[in-house]
Amino acid sequence: MKDQQLTNAVVASCDNSSIEYGLIKNATVVVKDNTVAWCGSSADIPEQFHTLPERDLHGRLLTPSLIDCHTHIVHGGHRAPEFEQRLQGASYAEISAAGGGIVSTMSATRAASVDDLVESALPRVDALLAEGVSVIEIKSGYGLDIDTELNMLRAARKIGTIRPVIVKTSFLGAHAVPADYKDRADEYIDNVCIPALEAAHNESLVDAVDGFCESIAFDTSQITRVFEKAQFLGLPVKLHAEQLTLSEGAKLAATYNALSADHLEYLDESGVEAMAASGTVAVLLPGAFYTLRETQHPPLDLFRKHGVPIAIATDCNPGSSPLASLLLTMNMACTLFRLTPEEALCGVTRVAAQALGITDRGVIAEGKQADFALWNVSHPAELCYRIGFNSLLERIV
Ligand code: NIG
Ligand code: FE
Repeated sequence: MKDQQLTNAVVASCDNSSIEYGLIKNATVVVKDNTVAWCGSSADIPEQFHTLPERDLHGRLLTPSLIDCHTHIVHGGHRAPEFEQRLQGASYAEISAAGGGIVSTMSATRAASVDDLVESALPRVDALLAEGVSVIEIKSGYGLDIDTELNMLRAARKIGTIRPVIVKTSFLGAHAVPADYKDRADEYIDNVCIPALEAAHNESLVDAVDGFCESIAFDTSQITRVFEKAQFLGLPVKLHAEQLTLSEGAKLAATYNALSADHLEYLDESGVEAMAASGTVAVLLPGAFYTLRETQHPPLDLFRKHGVPIAIATDCNPGSSPLASLLLTMNMACTLFRLTPEEALCGVTRVAAQALGITDRGVIAEGKQADFALWNVSHPAELCYRIGFNSLLERIV
């Protein structure tokens, strides 16, 4: 972006100040060297910036560009037939136990080449980009063999080179036990998951290490072994935890200073306290809650009480959350989980950045990357309030 002043904006800076949304009316943002050089009330622009060219934003809302901090957007095939089964009464856990679920996506993903995976993911990626998204986290976890886990991560990296988006990858080898390791989850961890992690790390394919700690997936001792390897390799961890049952995953994640623990519907107060102590972000995923018609709500009041930062994400995946809209996710987080619109917006900007260990974006503030979303609205709550409506005018980058 050229050096300039963006004037006459309503800025929702999403910084952590006491002002709601970090809102500044009649605001100017000064951009120099693709970085925010100054942001504040237009009346106070320092003289040194007066000569820069001006762009009038006509009183529209300017936010940080958005961040989707939890997706499985790279995968083969789809699971529309399971959607039909669920409508007839089958549960996610029953479908999974009968060989459907994650394991069924595994076959379609193994059959796909890296280029196939990229090609099938791009329309979903483009749907997110059309809503002002600049960072997408993408997990492996549907290969469940060494080659395919690597291919998923290669596809994720490739997406970051062919679209104007930063891709952060998470290795999720401990996502499900494939059929050939049925009842041998420990051997799967030793023979497949850990060697795949090492190989992926050697190819610089891994930004973080994730797992699925749940009665239908891996227990805490198995996840511990994966986290030990991650720590040895110097990689941060995160975890799908407490989605379907209280499995003590969030506590385990906290002991490894996890960037985030995700889902968390069944988390109890001691788990929330552990997350607060380690600074682990709670990533809430209303798309999965909605799709699975879950009734157990994540403990929002406990997160607030103990000061656990809250992010939200699409969890875009072919089974439990076939959702490729971060704006709809924001609406769902408010309506289903009772987040405030401010929490929802900060949950896809500042706190989502924190969940990915990103420090150069997520807020509009001096020294941060100049990467913004310009909206055809004048109040930030409108982003959450409309349903199925995209008011993005432009990503300014
Ligand atoms: O985040 N919870 C585990 N993993 C995914 C589900 C993936 C799938 O069903 O394919 C999730 O919801
Ligand atoms: Fe997930």
